[in-house]
Formats: sequence, C-alpha cells, structure tokens
Amino acid sequence: MMRAVVIYESMYGNTHEIADTIGSGLRTAGWQISIVPVAAAGSAVLTAADLVVVGGPTHAHGMTRPGTREGAAEAARKPGSGLTLEADALGAGLRDWLDSLGHYQVRAAAFDTRIAGPSLLTGRASRGIARALRHHGFEVLAEPESFLVSRENHILPGERERARQWGADLAAAMTAARTRPTH
Ligand SMILES: Cc1cc2nc3c(=O)[nH]c(=O)nc-3n(C[C@H](O)[C@H](O)[C@H](O)COP(=O)(O)O)c2cc1C
Repeated sequence: MMRAVVIYESMYGNTHEIADTIGSGLRTAGWQISIVPVAAAGSAVLTAADLVVVGGPTHAHGMTRPGTREGAAEAARKPGSGLTLEADALGAGLRDWLDSLGHYQVRAAAFDTRIAGPSLLTGRASRGIARALRHHGFEVLAEPESFLVSRENHILPGERERARQWGADLAAAMTAARTRPTH
C-alpha cells in the first residue's frame, strides 16, 4: 500500500484542517495516511513515506518566522479575538524545520493557506516550501497550491472540497510518476 505523510504547521487551525482534508482525498485513493504536526515530523516519518506533503500558513508573504508566530500568538491572546491557538502553535515553524532537514529522495508536494487575493499581493508560503524541498532532494511533483481563507481567518466556501480533490489528484500524479524512477 502507498503511504503519504502530510506535515503541517498551523497556529489557528486552518492549515491543520486543510492538511486533514488533503489526507482524506489521498485516503479515497486507497492510500495509508498520517497527518503530522511539524514539531513531530522526524526523519522516520519521511523515510517511511512514498509521498510527503508539506504545508503551512502564509505569514508576511512567506513561511512563518519566530516574530510573525509571536505576533499571531499575541493576537489570539487578545480578549474577544475568537482565535484559538493550536496545541503545537508555539513550537518551531516549517522554515526552521526545512533548514535543518537532511537529504531525501522522496516525492513531495507543497501547499499553504493564505488570504484570498492575487498572490502577488498576499504572498504564498508554498513557493518557499517547494523550493526548500527541492533543495533537500525531494522531487516536487505538483505545482504549489494555496487554500484560501477570509480576513477573519475562516476557510472560504469550496476550499475544503478543493483540498480533498487536490489530495486525490496527488495520488493520481503519483501513480503516473511511479512508472519512472525518482531523479
Ligand atoms: C502574523 C500573520 C501574518 C499574516 N500574513 C499574511 C500574508 O502576508 N499573506 C496572506 O495571504 N495571509 C497572511 N496571514 C493570514 C494567514 O495566512 C491565514 O489566516 C492562515 O490561514 C492561518 O493559518 P493557520 O490557521 O493554520 O495558522 C497572516 C496571518 C498572521 C497571523
């Protein structure tokens, strides 16, 4: 059976939920799926996977940084913010995780969540994630994808369905890729 691991960073839960939904799309294709927060993503989960999917929130046009994560945590602490911090929110982010990553010859894909709008204005973390994955030897087999939220931090209508479909499409792309060797 094919195995995928979906590794996510999430402070307010959107990227976590999208990670789960991408996983359910892969599962409909008969894959064995694990969904792992970046804080728990050691090399064992990477070497055991046929496909590694990595996603995080867009902060200040790219991947989070310690300062933007602190800003996000502060915003959640404000009374009436309506924001709840994820259990792993205060750990290291994807940027640090990617920086210290070894070399892996594994197929991969990158996604992010971000505010709806032209990516030229909003930025998108998934580009940097895909670049870093390539740098560490991964074969990125799909265009980086963004799943969109409102300014109030709610996942937009239709985005969960799109995430599930993206997961299913990744499984199909993997079936196609399996007929050629990993480069
Ligand atoms: C500190 C901070 C900075 C952000 N910067 C951007 C940005 O530059 N572009 C964007 O599209 N969204 C930005 N956002 C919105 C988040 O990307 C969006 O709310 C995301 O879905 C949060 O994911 P999470 O719930 O998994 O933490 C920012 C959010 C925070 C808290």
